Amino acid sequence: MNKTSESLLEFKNYSMGFKDEGVTYNLLDTVSFSVRRGAVLGVVGESGCGKSMTSLSVMRLLPPEAVVQGGEIVFDGANLLGKGEAEMEKLRGREIGMVFQEPMTSLNPVFTVGRQIGESLAIHFPAMSKDEIRNEVYQLLEHVGISNAAKRFDQYPHQLSGGMRQRVMIAMAVACKPKLLIADEPTTALDVTIQAQVLELMKKLVSESESSMMLITHNLGVVAETCDEAVVMYAGQIVEKGSVDHIFNRHSHPYTAGLMASIPSLSHGEGDLYSIPGTVPTIDKFVKGCRFASRCTHKKPGCEESAPPLAELDPGHFVACWDFGGK
Ligand SMILES: Nc1ncnc2c1ncn2[C@@H]1O[C@H](COP(=O)(O)OP(=O)(O)OP(=O)(O)O)[C@@H](O)[C@H]1O
Ligand SMILES: [Mg+2]
Repeated sequence: MNKTSESLLEFKNYSMGFKDEGVTYNLLDTVSFSVRRGAVLGVVGESGCGKSMTSLSVMRLLPPEAVVQGGEIVFDGANLLGKGEAEMEKLRGREIGMVFQEPMTSLNPVFTVGRQIGESLAIHFPAMSKDEIRNEVYQLLEHVGISNAAKRFDQYPHQLSGGMRQRVMIAMAVACKPKLLIADEPTTALDVTIQAQVLELMKKLVSESESSMMLITHNLGVVAETCDEAVVMYAGQIVEKGSVDHIFNRHSHPYTAGLMASIPSLSHGEGDLYSIPGTVPTIDKFVKGCRFASRCTHKKPGCEESAPPLAELDPGHFVACWDFGGK
């Protein structure tokens, strides 16, 4: 185990799926990527591509029907998949903080926001007094840009705006200064101005504490603004990964190209906006080979028969496509 390795989190050939009436369908297929210490990694892909299952796999909070099929998820030198529930409870909130995709379902309506932010401090630092926790929560609220902390502390989630609730979620996730922050679509429900502020805030919190972030989004603009590296996922398979420059300026996979072409721009007139034809198949319809093949403009005979490996095109730039390097 190498505690000082450059990667804080590393997925190594990780596979998982879902059991349904005795049949297990694979979703995440030999997924490999890493989040470097001090860096922000973006995970992008359309709805249903497996982004949330990737983040919930790290937290070991998958739904009961989920089945881990192989591989490792190494965090700070140790395989999370080998840990017992008691060990995971020590890590969750303390070493790994998570902003969940559904803010309203993650905040409890019957407890004050102050109490909810202070909860993980109380759990992980039992020696802290009530007053110390209250003071720390005031600081956290101010840190995430919520003024009048003493008043806000005693309010309930419904008394806050959507943007403020999102900030509360972030305060909860960073309360114990985790080494890794996982944010699953943290800004989707917000308007663009607040979205930009929340992203800027998360970036600042991560860089100030020299921690790392895995940011899950279907918004490529968010990746360009916030991330150092990105992983492009389609139907549970990584199709391309590299630096943000690789993904934005030198992408090779037809799926990445399709996502890029779908970004709305001011120059597009209404009705001109491109979208990739078709939709992500459900897990029971996945083919043996490249799962994107049925929607791909570069599809060749055999693409659906065998999956192309992730080949390194340039140092640090990987693509899984028979058309580009998958030889
Ligand atoms: N409980 C379940 N049982 C069976 N299949 C499931 C279950 N939960 C999720 N799936 C499958 O996993 C796929 C990926 O789910 P996931 O929530 O990770 O997608 P996502 O990329 O986070 O999408 P979104 O952008 O909409 O949040 C779903 O499309 C679905 O096919
Ligand atoms: Mg999701």
